[in-house]
Amino acid sequence: QDIVTRMRNIDLIVLGKYRIKPWYFSPYPEELTELDSVYICEFCLKYFKTCLCLQRHLEKCRLRHPPGNEIYRKNPLSFFEIDGRKNKKYAQNLCLLAKLFLDHKTLYYDTDPFLFYILCEYDDRGFHIVGYFSKEKESNDDNNVACILTLPPYQRKGYGKLLIEFSYELSKLENKTGSPEKPLSDLGLLSYRSYWCQTIMEVIIDAANSNDNSNSSSLSFDPPSISLNDIVEKTSINPKDLTATLNTMNIIYYSKGQHVIVVTKKMLDNFKASMSKRKYRIDAKLLNWHPKD
Ligand code: COA
Ligand code: NA
Repeated sequence: QDIVTRMRNIDLIVLGKYRIKPWYFSPYPEELTELDSVYICEFCLKYFKTCLCLQRHLEKCRLRHPPGNEIYRKNPLSFFEIDGRKNKKYAQNLCLLAKLFLDHKTLYYDTDPFLFYILCEYDDRGFHIVGYFSKEKESNDDNNVACILTLPPYQRKGYGKLLIEFSYELSKLENKTGSPEKPLSDLGLLSYRSYWCQTIMEVIIDAANSNDNSNSSSLSFDPPSISLNDIVEKTSINPKDLTATLNTMNIIYYSKGQHVIVVTKKMLDNFKASMSKRKYRIDAKLLNWHPKD
């Protein structure tokens, strides 16, 4: 393999109201790398050498949102779906921008096989890109996410998990399970592990409550009340990720010839505390999207 680890080549990007320091190399045109900063239109993601060029562009650029279909809106957030074939320029510019924060991914110049889901925060000036994930139109490996990114100014606020939740909501509508493309970065893995634990816990607790165990101090119930298949069906988390996560959660015990899930009071409290920090959730009813066949 002739992959070379290349030096970070851009010092700073200006994107909307943010000045962002890139983390990694991205193959922007060479003449841009000599400048102090690269100016990027936050709506169409075109890049410019000077602030003046960007200003001139903004007078002409009619876009105030990504160039695809808005498929979800819940104040103040919305999602746009972009087809990498129909909106090639946008998709390529998005990949260039994303590569600044992705170390190990090869950059796909051929964006045709991908869909892109852009998370935006909107106000009276337009729809501002927060992050995105890409997804192969046809995946042989059960992948429902190729790349996923929250732009640095928005990181650690729960948007990563919101993007992940959205990707699984799409899989639910497709009646499929899904998993992120490997390898995941450290931050990607942290986010997914946390999402999987919370989501599995949520489904288990739901099942326990409907079994009317709700006022005991620890919840325990038999496999027939919730099987692994049930959890897979309710979450679209693929079975491999599910079993791996359950193993780390230490909630399955073998007792009297049966597998039993035991959720202690402490685990329940931890779960509630961590969920209360999840400010953004996807409201599946607001998702205006149907799988293509
Ligand atoms: N240090 C420690 N924990 C971190 C972290 C950091 N820098 N960044 C995120 N986390 C943890 C959070 O604490 C949270 O877990 P918790 O709720 O259990 O506490 C979890 O990861 C998700 O946080 P969230 O705010 O929802 O994620 P995010 O918006 O910061 O986005 C990524 C997460 C992975 C999308 C983001 O870090 C990113 O874009 N990284 C660069 C691109 C990348 O590596 N993508 C994945 C590979 S394709
Ligand atoms: Na930099």
